[in-house]
Amino acid sequence: MNKHPLVKEILHNETEIDKRSKELAEEISEYYRGQEVKENAVVLIGLLKGCIPFMANFLKYMTYECMTEYMVVSSYLGGTKQSEEPKINLDLDISVKGRSILIVEDIIDSGNTLDYVKKYLLFKGARDVKVVTLLDKPEGRQVPIEADWYGFSVKNEFLIGFGLDYQERLRNLPYVAVCDTSKLKDWKW
Ligand code: IMP
Ligand code: MG
Repeated sequence: MNKHPLVKEILHNETEIDKRSKELAEEISEYYRGQEVKENAVVLIGLLKGCIPFMANFLKYMTYECMTEYMVVSSYLGGTKQSEEPKINLDLDISVKGRSILIVEDIIDSGNTLDYVKKYLLFKGARDVKVVTLLDKPEGRQVPIEADWYGFSVKNEFLIGFGLDYQERLRNLPYVAVCDTSKLKDWKW
């Protein structure tokens, strides 16, 4: 496989991610078969933009019926205004009242985004909000929140690929990799 020059180490390749996505989808479908779910369909809410590759992969293995919705939530992380809460830039156009929701994320780091979205959906009347994430970075946590299901646990390093970006690029890499941050200072696209 051709490695992008900003890649230090490939952590999880396409085959591995596909296999794990299938396992998660089977486990999650089984979970919902044992629950009372409004209209017998779970609402998957993908958090754009990072969720796309994982969600597409995961979705095709879901055997429990589902609907797909998306939200864009900008996190203040990376900025300096610690007091500002995450902002919803694209909201849902369906009602979540009484619904069973499954949030689909690329990675949980500080947990701030997820905490906010989860509370928002419960406030809007969701019956139940669960979370599946491809990656979990437990060392980054600032709020005590956990995914109900995760693909892989990762160390506290800057990752790229399979939805994860550096300056809005590299989401297209077909693997999850550790970024060679020593190259970023002089990096020109
Ligand atoms: P948090 O859990 O609120 O800190 O934010 C999670 C979001 O930050 C994810 O959905 C990603 O978009 C982004 N993020 C966290 N860690 C990384 C990383 O290592 N590389 C790229 N984006 C990341
Ligand atoms: Mg994200």
